[in-house]
Amino acid sequence: MNIYEKYVLPKLIHLAMRNKGAMAERAKFIPLASGIVLEIGVGSGLNLPFYGPKVEKLYALDPSLELWKMARQRVKEAPFPVEFLAASAECIPLKDGSADTVVTTWTLCTIPNALRALTEMRRVLKPKGQLIFVEHGRSPDPAVLAWQNWLTPVWKRIGGGCHLNRQIDELIADAGFDITQIERGYSRGPKPMAYLYRGCALARTAAGERVVPCSDGT
Ligand SMILES: C[S@@+](CC[C@H](N)C(=O)[O-])C[C@H]1O[C@@H](n2cnc3c(N)ncnc32)[C@H](O)[C@@H]1O
Repeated sequence: MNIYEKYVLPKLIHLAMRNKGAMAERAKFIPLASGIVLEIGVGSGLNLPFYGPKVEKLYALDPSLELWKMARQRVKEAPFPVEFLAASAECIPLKDGSADTVVTTWTLCTIPNALRALTEMRRVLKPKGQLIFVEHGRSPDPAVLAWQNWLTPVWKRIGGGCHLNRQIDELIADAGFDITQIERGYSRGPKPMAYLYRGCALARTAAGERVVPCSDGT
């Protein structure tokens, strides 16, 4: 990790993710979470104030300790216990079926192997557990997609690995989720960065099927 990634990028992410449009999306989707919740890529904890009274505990996963330090005040004010997991979503240190809800907001763009991470999310969800997602990704407009494809190699370097052109709904379905609600469309901001996929999905469970964990979990 270089100096930019360690000291500058976390502050930029925190500032950028506080925009009004993002906060409105958080206010709409985060209150749907309940029970034992796992948030993937919790960052600086900007979703924490939006969790409702049905949340019993929050596992807050992120590989970035720098971002997590910025969440301190929001963790203090949370009316439920919060446990930080310093890990990648590609290998979640939880047992199978340990969460009622998994939340991911503006994070699937950044995880190197997003399909592996989603498969892990399904593994740690209880049967019929719910995934709540607010993610940006591939635009259906060819002109915007051309920009996304062109910009992504550079954007990844300055944006901590962020891909602009991932087909989020397909990734979620490919990982074994049934999407039960989805809204697609542009939010505020430059179009290549602003095409959102937001909604909910249920973990599909086929008889006898088992998602193999990448480790034993703890
Ligand atoms: C754009 S930020 C979004 C932060 C937060 N979810 C929000 O809505 O404000 C992307 C987040 O993904 C996290 N991230 C990067 N690689 C990851 C990985 N392999 N597994 C889980 N999270 C990761 C980053 O540390 C960062 O917190």
